[in-house]
Amino acid sequence: MTDVVRLELQGEIALITVNNPPVNALGHAVREGLLQAFQSAEADPQVRAVVLVCEGNTFIAGADIKEFGKPPQAPSLPEVIEVIEGSSKPSVAVIHGTALGGGLEVALGCHYRIARKDSKVGLPEVKLGLLPGAGGTQRLPRLAGVEKALDMIVSGTPISAAEAVEHSIVDELFEGDLRESGLAYARRMVEEGRAPRRTGEQTRGLEGADNEALIRAKHAEVAKRMPGLFSPLRCIAAVEAATKLPLAEGLKRERELFAECLNSPQRGALVHSFFAERQAGKINDLPSDVKPRPIKTAAVIGGGTMGVGIALSFANVGVPVKLLELNDEALQRGLQRARDTYAASVKRGSLTEDTMEKRLALITGVTDYAVLADADVVVEAVFEEMGVKQQVFEQLDAVCKPGAILASNTSSLDLNAIAAFTERPEDVVGLHFFSPANVMRLLEVVRGEKTSNEVLATAMAIGKQLKKVSVVVGVCDGFVGNRMVFQYGREAEFLLEEGATPQQVDGALRNFGMAMGPFAMRDLSGLDIGQAIRKRQRATLPAHLDFPTVSDKLCAAGMLGQKTGAGYYRYEPGNRTPLENPELAPMLEAASQEKGIERKALDEQYIVERCIFALVNEGAKILEEGIAQRSSDIDVIYLNGYGFPAFRGGPMFYADSVGLDTVLARVKELHARCGDWWKPAPLLEKLAAEGRTFTEWQAGQ
Ligand code: 3HC
Ligand code: NAI
Repeated sequence: MTDVVRLELQGEIALITVNNPPVNALGHAVREGLLQAFQSAEADPQVRAVVLVCEGNTFIAGADIKEFGKPPQAPSLPEVIEVIEGSSKPSVAVIHGTALGGGLEVALGCHYRIARKDSKVGLPEVKLGLLPGAGGTQRLPRLAGVEKALDMIVSGTPISAAEAVEHSIVDELFEGDLRESGLAYARRMVEEGRAPRRTGEQTRGLEGADNEALIRAKHAEVAKRMPGLFSPLRCIAAVEAATKLPLAEGLKRERELFAECLNSPQRGALVHSFFAERQAGKINDLPSDVKPRPIKTAAVIGGGTMGVGIALSFANVGVPVKLLELNDEALQRGLQRARDTYAASVKRGSLTEDTMEKRLALITGVTDYAVLADADVVVEAVFEEMGVKQQVFEQLDAVCKPGAILASNTSSLDLNAIAAFTERPEDVVGLHFFSPANVMRLLEVVRGEKTSNEVLATAMAIGKQLKKVSVVVGVCDGFVGNRMVFQYGREAEFLLEEGATPQQVDGALRNFGMAMGPFAMRDLSGLDIGQAIRKRQRATLPAHLDFPTVSDKLCAAGMLGQKTGAGYYRYEPGNRTPLENPELAPMLEAASQEKGIERKALDEQYIVERCIFALVNEGAKILEEGIAQRSSDIDVIYLNGYGFPAFRGGPMFYADSVGLDTVLARVKELHARCGDWWKPAPLLEKLAAEGRTFTEWQAGQ
């Protein structure tokens, strides 16, 4: 065998163990080891049944994603699974942790499957721009039926072991020791004289339903909910093949469709997104012996939009949290908002009443700072004014226990100045949540000049505890996400002055894949936020730069977005559908006229490049300044906080895939035509000249 796959005999049972940390991925050595182990068991006359089990935290979690795009090495996974399924001795896969992708496909190749009660199974390949390429699209529908198989393969979402039993994917659940449970099941198979039950020979799942109608319905759903994605349609085509072709031909068709996905640029971008998210958790200069402080209790200052969302985030993961407001009236408003948010989830069916009450019981409203003395972390989310922040941090400094983490949710103020209001700036860190804080996955962890390593590590651990995707950023105006989105929004609005409408700009960026257009987004968050930022920035803006003025005109007319019923769009009461705002057209005309611009039609590519390359150019400056550790961290921020399409990998990866020389050429053209907002970032110029990418670049090189 190989180092990663072991075969031992337990009487008449062959016990095959995979041990390839961290997730037992099916790299070349594992495939070869499995092949040899199953072949040996087949050849050994003493063996009457086979058990496949994994060490560590999980059953096989899939193909080795790092091997994608490299030259294939035999044996391929389909070959291995063919041998497993073809064996004349019954086999059982013993599932624990997560049997995902190729891991579930290996289990489906075995003749029986048992799963530990807390385990999950799934085919998440679609999330990587792929489809299950080792028989999953052919074998799963034969067991679970076409409807369930389509759901699992097209969504990529794993299901619980109990649900897998309901759908005949797993035969039995067990608790306790993996090896013992597997061996006991195998002995039973031998005693009962069970023959191999090959999944590929099953037909029950394919019968009795209107499979054509199910496939048509899934097509319609994908067209509506996953526009622009390459692999979901191929997932459906592969399952359709299972309904129409014999196994061998279906497998061949699956292979062809898998190769199409493997070669698609979307696969590269989605795999980048997967690793980028994992990489983001790593802090380059943090010594490995730094241990985070334990967090058992929390407090939040300010029960407004953000404070309540942050308090809910703690309660959602079982951490007791005190919510502090200025006075009882404001406090009751905040607590009611918390209850209303949970009640809406109960109404939607995503939360039970019982869980709601348990979580609400974890949130204690207070108005007195003294009771915060025992909090392990305090997150401040009061008004965005330095004077107010000062008052709050001075009080926290006075009452909080030594070692408490003092965090600010400020979105634009200088964290170093906030830290300086305390006698313990090393314990101060930024935890920049995104709205709604209880829903959005992104957390920018702002590292102040004096933030200690231990506090930074704790802030990252808090993010993990809250199930957020945390990214470390440095102190600057807007940190990473908002600093970049400011450039994007400004260019979008310049397009309005050149001749576009909000509908055209939003439409072009949605077609590019953005979850929402910039103007719909601004209407949602409120135009007054941008106005306040512009007011602050205008004070120091160099004379040769200016801002577009459409938003100022809307604000002056009291149109602040959804909350006032009109902004770039108009909204009917109680309805968020953006409709044309008839009062906007004269404002657009006026804005163009004031700058002597002749309005003209703009093409979609121009719109997209102008907005997206503005993000990229600013991202390059952020990288060079060391505000972000690596370009993939910027991608993670955009994918998780700003609705950037995962199939494009994030703005920096997208720029890499377009080619930095092409991006630079466009930036230079825009610089010549639109002025100094477009001054090319030195790092972009350097990398384009060297023929390198942002992804390859590391600070100091
Ligand atoms: N291949 C290679 N490395 C993998 C991997 C895989 N399939 N899955 C996880 N890893 C690595 C991660 O990069 C990470 O590495 P690092 O420590 O160096 O950063 C490490 O394993 C641990 O991963 P997580 O931090 O994600 O650990 P969690 O415990 O939070 O989650 C998991 C574990 C649920 C298994 C999660 O890692 C996951 O979802 N993995 C991807 C599963 C997947 O997509 N499988 C399908 C692959 S495609 C396929 O099988 C094609 C087939 O049909 C032919
Ligand atoms: P908000 O106006 O909805 O809430 C602020 C709350 O703080 C109010 O309820 C107010 O009564 C309370 N408050 C004010 N002074 C206080 C004090 N001294 N002690 C206790 N409570 C006090 O504001 P919002 O939107 O929740 O913003 C809060 C912070 O979060 C700001 O720093 C903002 O920049 C930041 N932020 C806001 C985001 C958003 O989308 N709204 C996103 C990310 C960060």
